[in-house]
Amino acid sequence: MREIINGKKICLGTCYYPEHWDACLWPRDLDRMLEAGIEAVRVAEFAWSKIEPREGEYTYEFFDSFLDLAAEKGMKVIFCTPTATPPAWLTEAYPEVLNADKEGHLYRHGTRRHYNYNSPVYQEFCRKIVEHSASHYGRHPAIIGWQIDNELNCENNEFYSESDGVAFRRFLKEKYGTLEALNRAWGTVFWNQTYTAWSEVCLPGKTNSGTNNPHQLLDYLRFVSDSACRFAGMQADIIRKYCKEGDFVTTNGIFGNLDNHRLTRDSLDFMTYDSYPNFSYGLDGYRPEDRMKDRGCSRSLAEVRSLSPVFGIMEQQSGANGWTDRMEAPTPRPGQMTLWTMQSIAHGADYVSYFRWRTCTFGTEMYWHGILDYSGRENRRIREVRDIHARLQKLQEVAGARYLAKVAILRDYDNCWDAQIDKWHGRVEWLSQDSLFTALQLEHVPFDYVYLNHETALEDLRQYHTVFYPHAVILTRERMSLLERYVAAGGRLIMGCRTGYKDIDGRCVTEYLPGLAATLTGTDIPEYSFVAPDEGRVTVDWDGTLMEAAVFNDLLQPLPDSHAQVLAAYASGYYAGTPALIRNLYGKGEAYYFGAAFSLDTARTFLKKLSLTEPYADLFLLPEDCELAVREKEGRKYFFLLNYTKEEQTVDIKQPMRDLLEQRPVQGKQSLPPYGVKVLAG
Ligand code: GAL
Repeated sequence: MREIINGKKICLGTCYYPEHWDACLWPRDLDRMLEAGIEAVRVAEFAWSKIEPREGEYTYEFFDSFLDLAAEKGMKVIFCTPTATPPAWLTEAYPEVLNADKEGHLYRHGTRRHYNYNSPVYQEFCRKIVEHSASHYGRHPAIIGWQIDNELNCENNEFYSESDGVAFRRFLKEKYGTLEALNRAWGTVFWNQTYTAWSEVCLPGKTNSGTNNPHQLLDYLRFVSDSACRFAGMQADIIRKYCKEGDFVTTNGIFGNLDNHRLTRDSLDFMTYDSYPNFSYGLDGYRPEDRMKDRGCSRSLAEVRSLSPVFGIMEQQSGANGWTDRMEAPTPRPGQMTLWTMQSIAHGADYVSYFRWRTCTFGTEMYWHGILDYSGRENRRIREVRDIHARLQKLQEVAGARYLAKVAILRDYDNCWDAQIDKWHGRVEWLSQDSLFTALQLEHVPFDYVYLNHETALEDLRQYHTVFYPHAVILTRERMSLLERYVAAGGRLIMGCRTGYKDIDGRCVTEYLPGLAATLTGTDIPEYSFVAPDEGRVTVDWDGTLMEAAVFNDLLQPLPDSHAQVLAAYASGYYAGTPALIRNLYGKGEAYYFGAAFSLDTARTFLKKLSLTEPYADLFLLPEDCELAVREKEGRKYFFLLNYTKEEQTVDIKQPMRDLLEQRPVQGKQSLPPYGVKVLAG
């Protein structure tokens, strides 16, 4: 059986760097960790040179002594492959392993993640070191699992080395078969980009206008993702040949230009996430008007949950942020580490590992603080870790419980990536995604993300009574058929402007808009426009409630011969009086088409009009500043109430419940202290 994330317990870990400290400190460090309730350490993710100090010379002396000590002390270890940091001897002898910028200039040694996924030479070096480590440590008693690399696609998620160029052509040949098919998909007749030989097809590098073919860019992002997935898959396959039964394979963090769902499905037992909520209090990132701040991490945690319903946090913030040249943020205030740990657990984390044990005294991250400061002296943060551990003992029955949501936001990688490269799409997408998340949080509506792919089945959607698919610009018949079946079976679907105007290659369709979504939404769009800057705020009147129609306006009309009904019309601009919101009854369900992007007030209006707000109103009266998260196991629900503010908040518990942390029955008005958390069972 797996040692962690096994549905049986919630536990703590930390990230440790034996190579940063004199070995004489290890025994006491491990003792102190165990005494604080830390059961596992992650090691070795950047330690290539400790294992292969020179080409072809492998030595495990260093990690043998650490791992044997860990085994002796009873500390569990997550061992990493070190492929995020190729050593200097390697990059000097084989510069082709390096990544390059858009102009093809190679990056230099001196930071991390400076490699490319496609260099055959790098792949071979990685294969060998992973094979050596996995065969050497596959049966080591201290090891409970493996982390592949570190934060795939962090720092760099674009690749322009020679090997990437070769691999990109290979990827395209596999995908299209013929140049004619590629020319068609990329619309290369436009601006005379037609290719006549595969050798002419390049990565989307630097151009004189700074612009690249959008269809090529879309394929490029798919290619980057494919490269990362294959790279991880190669490592996972090797590790699995050697590791003990029950030992897991994971990687940490979720980053851009990467289909994390495919990565998880193909190569991992579960995803682990790196949670740094303090970024929102950073000296350069602080936005007073942002209502979410550290609560915004719940959005990423919802993303992780869509990969692995029960997951781990490989790196949980435990100190101030800071590289020497950026990302400065203050130390967590008393209680914030507890709050952020509970935030992770509330969303489905059963393992929380703090980054890092002791703060490094050198290097780029010497201000990125861990639990302990440089000296390792006893401090407030380690006392907080001990306290968290003590509290977790009261929450053990929550282990393995699944986050419970009845509302979902649908996403898919084609649209995520199209929104990145297409400003028209991006402008509506980012606003709506931010607003929907914030609105659902403020109205205490637990929600899930569901990523649509070839494997998504009707049952995956049926567990939600309502799904938002805000701007499905790219639509396919397969996805539409799924949505039609979902609505026909009684589901409620809400779509926003710009739906259905592109095909899978990112080309605009010639069908009447919203293209493939017309029948389901009962909507026709004869005209559309960006909101003109001199128009100010365009509004929509929905039965007397005025809400904003932000960014872009599709001017709607109900499709004849459908069950479409106009619910609201534009209230300003030259198109005042034109339908802006249509509801179509379809089978047992209903589909809504809203002609604009969702700003925060609009998203909140939707939640109110559709009676989605406060789904647990019979149980709680909660202030906006507190998050409600729900996990469920064997029919028992666990409610997490999280106060992100530095002020005390009052929550009203309307029915008798059990307060798990305080181990007592509760009802009525209760105080949640600054950064306070309650976990209640019904
Ligand atoms: C993560 C990374 C760690 C460390 C940490 C703080 O992104 O995995 O190695 O760099 O951030 O910067």
